Amino acid sequence: MPKPEPNAGTVEREYGVPIPGKILPKEQWAQTAYKQFPPPAEAPLDFAEVFGRSAPLVIDLGCGNGRYVLQSALARGDYDHFACDLLPAAIRYATRRANQRGLSNVRFAVKDAESLVRDWLPAGTAAEIHCYHPQPYHDAKERWRRLLTPGFLKQVHRALAPGGLFVVQTDCPPYWAYMKEILPAFFEFHEQDGPWPDAPQGRSRREILARKRGYTVFRGYGLKLDLSAAEVKARVAALPLPNFKTRGVGSELDDEEAED
Ligand SMILES: C[S@@+](CC[C@H](N)C(=O)[O-])C[C@H]1O[C@@H](n2cnc3c(N)ncnc32)[C@H](O)[C@@H]1O
Repeated sequence: MPKPEPNAGTVEREYGVPIPGKILPKEQWAQTAYKQFPPPAEAPLDFAEVFGRSAPLVIDLGCGNGRYVLQSALARGDYDHFACDLLPAAIRYATRRANQRGLSNVRFAVKDAESLVRDWLPAGTAAEIHCYHPQPYHDAKERWRRLLTPGFLKQVHRALAPGGLFVVQTDCPPYWAYMKEILPAFFEFHEQDGPWPDAPQGRSRREILARKRGYTVFRGYGLKLDLSAAEVKARVAALPLPNFKTRGVGSELDDEEAED
């Protein structure tokens, strides 16, 4: 008799909050790492081919340890989920947990969010794009790395299906003020008052950590506006770049996270 996987059935916890799902016996594990993008000439990705079926597509940008994707994929088996992060260690962690939960509707890739959205997402296809706690990059010399810019929103808008959903969240007040300034140009924007109903203790690891520290978490979602190409172009040109100062708000937690 093969030995049962030692952790099978275990409910894991992170900062006291259960990680969604349970570890399955090894023979039920899935393969969720997406390691090899095709050559650039073959872009964008064919997600029906990636998942072996046609289903609404959920994207998570800068997914960290993948907590949101685990939760969503377990709750919505009829949706496919593709998530990316720059950090190989974060993706290894996320992939292992999704594999152990047998999630065939998930793929994780080490990839920067800009090129994933711009080069690899086909126009008008994603049902939802999520971005939880994008890095604020407190140092003035690194501000150029901030993810949410007018040009990036143009690409998110392009990739979403008609009426598609863009979900954002941050604990950095100046980043939130900037999001509220630029998102309504492309999306019918709504602020979410309090935690998402599906995750009262937090959808993402950073959200859980920020709340434990007593930081305010800002949440919102936008529905894709129906805009012509000329309108999109004019809005990108009219909006400011993310040159805001953070005054280091939340940087302590950012430093700690980087050391984990
Ligand atoms: C503050 S963490 C938030 C992680 C996760 N979304 C959460 O809420 O727990 C920011 C994450 O974004 C990733 N990141 C930063 N810039 C990125 C980029 N351009 N593309 C993809 N991931 C990026 C970092 O590696 C890090 O894992």
